[in-house]
Amino acid sequence: MRQPLIAGNWKMNKTATEGQALARAIREGLQTQTVEVVLCPPFTAIPAVHAVLQGSPIHLGAQNVHWEDAGAFTGEISPVMLKEWCRYVIIGHSERRQYFHEDDEMIHRKVLAALRHGLIPILCVGETLAQREAGETGTVVATQTRRALEGLSPEQAAGLVIAYEPVWAIGTGRAATGADAEEVIRRWVRGTLEELFGLEVAQRVRVLYGGSVTPENIAEFVCRPTIDGALVGGASLKAETFLGIIHETARVKA
Ligand code: 13P
Repeated sequence: MRQPLIAGNWKMNKTATEGQALARAIREGLQTQTVEVVLCPPFTAIPAVHAVLQGSPIHLGAQNVHWEDAGAFTGEISPVMLKEWCRYVIIGHSERRQYFHEDDEMIHRKVLAALRHGLIPILCVGETLAQREAGETGTVVATQTRRALEGLSPEQAAGLVIAYEPVWAIGTGRAATGADAEEVIRRWVRGTLEELFGLEVAQRVRVLYGGSVTPENIAEFVCRPTIDGALVGGASLKAETFLGIIHETARVKA
């Protein structure tokens, strides 16, 4: 009942020209309609990629958003601006938490701002290696989820996408095991959603795994019913590997 979703987070990679070429190759190579595909280019490539995706089922997402609609916030991009181009927006990525000091309160405001303008948040949560080794994975993931979403209506919550991205698995080539990801998502992501919004919402939200996903290991995650897809970094920068992940997901979820 939940449509599988594979999202590519290009991070700070690809010029507008490069992004167009990549998006075109993904569009031309896409051979499934069962998996929803989302590309999240850097802001400067969004309009160019949008033009390439016209008339295709592939959706666009941004990688960040400010919580105000407009004003004196030099260097920021508002949800009103994104709304013209994007359906999704990544919020609370660990790189934003780590390098740009985003905290749960800011992330909460960004989620509300995105929803206010009809953008679908892809909320990222996940523990660091130190937190995992200290046995804090559950509390960290539950707290991040709760603080970002507390106060939303069940209807608002049901439309969300959440990505569980253990920080130690991002860009390291060391993915979580499928069993580990499944356990965290079931107990601490969906469990927290159930506490906040009830069982039906907890079952409707799409939850992705992220962290060193490849065409070779994606099946390990999407074979588990609680995992609806992936948020892909490095492997989303080449059409061949990104399409490999999408098509493998379609095969496993069929
Ligand atoms: P990698 O796939 O490069 O590990 O990045 C994951 C990620 O952070 C996606 O948001």
